[in-house]
Amino acid sequence: MVVIGAGAAGLFCAGAAGQRGLRVLLLDHATKVAEKIRISGGGRCNFTNREALPANYLGENPHFCRSALAQYTCADFIELVRRHGIAFHEKHKGQLFCDGSSQQIIDLLLTECTEGGVTRRQPCGVGAVRAVAEPGPGERRFELDTEQGLVRADHVVVATGGLSIPKIGATDFGQRLAQQFGHRIVPLRPALVPLTFDAAQWARWSALSGVALPVVVTATPAPAEGATKGKNKVKPVSFDEDLLFTHRGLSGPAILQISSFWAPGQPLSINLAPGIDLAEALRQSKQGSRRQLSTAWRDALPEAVPQRLAQAWLQDTAARHPALQDTAAVAELKDKDLDALGQSANAWSITPSGTEGYAKAEVTAGGVDTRELSSQSMESKLQPGLYFIGEVVDVTGWLGGYNFQWAWSSAMACARAM
Ligand code: FDA
Repeated sequence: MVVIGAGAAGLFCAGAAGQRGLRVLLLDHATKVAEKIRISGGGRCNFTNREALPANYLGENPHFCRSALAQYTCADFIELVRRHGIAFHEKHKGQLFCDGSSQQIIDLLLTECTEGGVTRRQPCGVGAVRAVAEPGPGERRFELDTEQGLVRADHVVVATGGLSIPKIGATDFGQRLAQQFGHRIVPLRPALVPLTFDAAQWARWSALSGVALPVVVTATPAPAEGATKGKNKVKPVSFDEDLLFTHRGLSGPAILQISSFWAPGQPLSINLAPGIDLAEALRQSKQGSRRQLSTAWRDALPEAVPQRLAQAWLQDTAARHPALQDTAAVAELKDKDLDALGQSANAWSITPSGTEGYAKAEVTAGGVDTRELSSQSMESKLQPGLYFIGEVVDVTGWLGGYNFQWAWSSAMACARAM
């Protein structure tokens, strides 16, 4: 068996298959092993999520991931992490991180490969992959041209990931190989990525770079290709997470999460004060109050909204509603002006112009169409002996350890099927 790509999925699959008795060769064109794991989770690798369920994954064929996730669960990977003596902690919403560093997960995977007797060649680029039409006795089903010579194998596992972070070796090799064998590719796009705005539109907010606060962000995904009207009606998707202002646009977990669902041209709706009806709070503040608007506004907002943002928001709204001056007596303001101020922050509607692209995206959405793969084994339905695992497949997890869990689960489904 040859595994192409020594990242999360490839290393895990190679080790598991080797331990099941297969002779495994693992090839990767990069100089360093599993560089993406090393930089993941801010250097501490958010290696799984306690709640990893099929509902936490996107793809054109949403039920595909069920089987692999059920065959090898987050609890299975947690047990392996414990067995390797790696201390970890839960940070937020089920997200598990190493106490030490991501290197511990890389070491775990390399140890599993050693136990499976895996041969790893790295750096070793892979060129053409050919299927042998009718392998005779003693012949193998595939031939691969590699930088270290011709390799023959019965099983080829493609684990070359997505396009994110090209500077550490991401390529579309896997997607091109899939196409060579007749597979459809669900169009690729950066996901879990900061969103950008055109410079003129963003100029008024760019001074807020660095401001962060908890919000609820909502988007309505574009309907899937070929979806019929009425049927498969697209529902809005919301995330309750932190938002971060940047020089060019918006980032932070709330935006990374929603970016996977956002389609170009679609607006986002952002609630800067979740759980508070700001218009109502401002109307209430009129009663028996001599406060200035700036004070009433600050009092109506949750504490988590930084002062810089509160002020900038008021000034920005005043440009469209001149009565809303900082020093205006709130009791003298009209309800309609206060409502405009409150509603603008409870449902900030803003349309990104794009994303920061693959250079900043944590993952690549789209990939090998899962309708042409076995959900039990990840084997191609078009070419026996060819498998696709991990991010190269059209299964994209939410932010929070779900993508590594997909790498582990899809890798194990494949290894166990051999
Ligand atoms: P992965 O990208 O890990 O590996 C692919 C391998 O294939 C690479 O080693 C590459 O060199 C090799 N390759 C590519 N082209 C090749 C070719 N032509 N020939 C030979 N080899 C080739 N997820 C998560 O769950 N928790 C987290 O904390 C994070 N954090 C995070 C941070 C950052 C900055 C990024 C970019 C991503 C994350 N992720 C994450 C996502 C996670 O890293 C990703 O989903 C998995 O690494 C995917 O595993 P794969 O093995 O499929 O691809």
